[in-house]
Amino acid sequence: MIFEAVNKLVREQLGLKDFQLQTPKAIEHGDVSLPCFSFSKEFKKSPHVIAEEFAKNVTPRGLVKSVSAIAGFLNFHINKQELAKLLLPVIDDKYGRNNAGKKRIVVVEYSSPNIAKPFGVGHLRSTVIGASIAKLYEFHGWKVIRMNHLGDWGTQFGKLIVAFKRWGVEKRLNEEPIKHLLEIYVAFHTEAEQHPEIEEDARQAFAELERGNKEYKKLWKKFVNLSIKEFKKIYAQLNVNFDYEYGESFYSDKMQAVIDLAESKSVSERNDGALIIPLEGMPPVLLLKSNSSTTYHTRDMASAIYRIEKLKSERLVYVVGQEQILHFNQVFGALGKLGYDTSDMHHIPFGLFHFKDGKMSTRKGNVIFLEEILEEAKERVLALIKEKNPSLKNKEDVAKKVGIGSIIFGDLQNDRIKEIVFDWDRIIDLQGDTGPYIHYTYARIMSILRKSKNSKKRNMDYSKLLHPVEEKIISLLEQYPSVIGSALDEHHPHIVAQYLLKLCRSFNEFYHDCKVMGSPEEVERLMLICSVGKVIKSGLDLLGIETVEEM
Ligand code: ARG
Repeated sequence: MIFEAVNKLVREQLGLKDFQLQTPKAIEHGDVSLPCFSFSKEFKKSPHVIAEEFAKNVTPRGLVKSVSAIAGFLNFHINKQELAKLLLPVIDDKYGRNNAGKKRIVVVEYSSPNIAKPFGVGHLRSTVIGASIAKLYEFHGWKVIRMNHLGDWGTQFGKLIVAFKRWGVEKRLNEEPIKHLLEIYVAFHTEAEQHPEIEEDARQAFAELERGNKEYKKLWKKFVNLSIKEFKKIYAQLNVNFDYEYGESFYSDKMQAVIDLAESKSVSERNDGALIIPLEGMPPVLLLKSNSSTTYHTRDMASAIYRIEKLKSERLVYVVGQEQILHFNQVFGALGKLGYDTSDMHHIPFGLFHFKDGKMSTRKGNVIFLEEILEEAKERVLALIKEKNPSLKNKEDVAKKVGIGSIIFGDLQNDRIKEIVFDWDRIIDLQGDTGPYIHYTYARIMSILRKSKNSKKRNMDYSKLLHPVEEKIISLLEQYPSVIGSALDEHHPHIVAQYLLKLCRSFNEFYHDCKVMGSPEEVERLMLICSVGKVIKSGLDLLGIETVEEM
């Protein structure tokens, strides 16, 4: 809103066509600034002088209260009360939503856990980051297809088949499927240290599974179904869903086409019995192993082609850990060789998530189960509620939303590329930069609004919102659409999370300094905080977090 207003003023009063507006580094300098460096050449004057002259030639009006020139920048100061008058009435549940995506189709792939393995924290990261990115796309007018690419194919299933035949216990498998599959997987690796030849048995078993061995197929299907049942419990807790949940095996019958295409375009070559696609500046893609098994790469190529051709996707987004950067470079590189346009294929990497004792490894079996983390989050929040607000109704439900929200927020508040060291105190703290702090702020706003039900209605006079913290809140509210826009452009949900923290901090400062009920500014202040509440709810929703009305 303010950029549009300044843009118009600059065109009309200064007659400029080609210029770039930006947000000043220091808030005292103003709300919008026009750097004058690029005009030096044309006007044959220093940016400093140009800015001074511009300042003299501008007559402030509308949203622009005054202008000033500092060190080559022309700064615009916005009339916050005028802004409030235009802005607050238009803030509703849809505030910030637009149609920039023009209904284009984007496939956002996230989560993608592996069958027969625990749902790890890496998959949790992919799930929450991806779910948020998908929501950001939708909010900006894209047609989003949510995709889960389950790891249900590959040599590890050969290992599991071999292991299950040796150490598997049917009863235990039915009772605690993932734990048992993990046990036998660990047993396999322990055995392989003494008897490496079982690795070859596993490769053979997988090759037979690919050829359709009935007994193996049945066992494999059982592992798949039991695992999916477990994953569904986690998705239900996180409130996450998918349009398609295709395992890698779904692409089994679509891989020959990839191989044929590669051969017909003469981009593949034989190498020691294997089939590869050589690439510049990185290791080749292995399409077929020498025992003619396909690979993780082949399946990803087939799935990308499926998304483009069958699902008509115009953009592919993959939310997968940074340890697979090379993998996606190879897959995109090979797709490019096959003639696909790779300019709108995006790998969105993220850093490791670890506990104080280092990275976890499934092979050694030292994993912490995600369900246990989610459970503990709920319990910790419940304890907090019992201490702070013992009379609260439906404590359990509130603890669930706030507890799960604390885990999601604890992830999304970080730049995704950075590593996260998991620390309970950092995640739950009601005073700190946490999800519960935001939930608490929202509940506080709702409580004021409930109490205001009987407050007298009268016409708004926005010129009363003069306190510096009120002005700060008005500016922040105005920034919301551009904040979520950059979060989408950069695939960085933490931009939304950091913004919400800032907004909540300003609100709490306001709450401390400004009286609402019974003050001369009562209705204007109620309007202001109602808008803050709407934006918090919308922002949390974009992060995949549900709000609570009371806490
Ligand atoms: N299942 C894989 C893993 O856990 C991640 C799959 C990522 N997606 C993909 N299209 N390759 O490592």
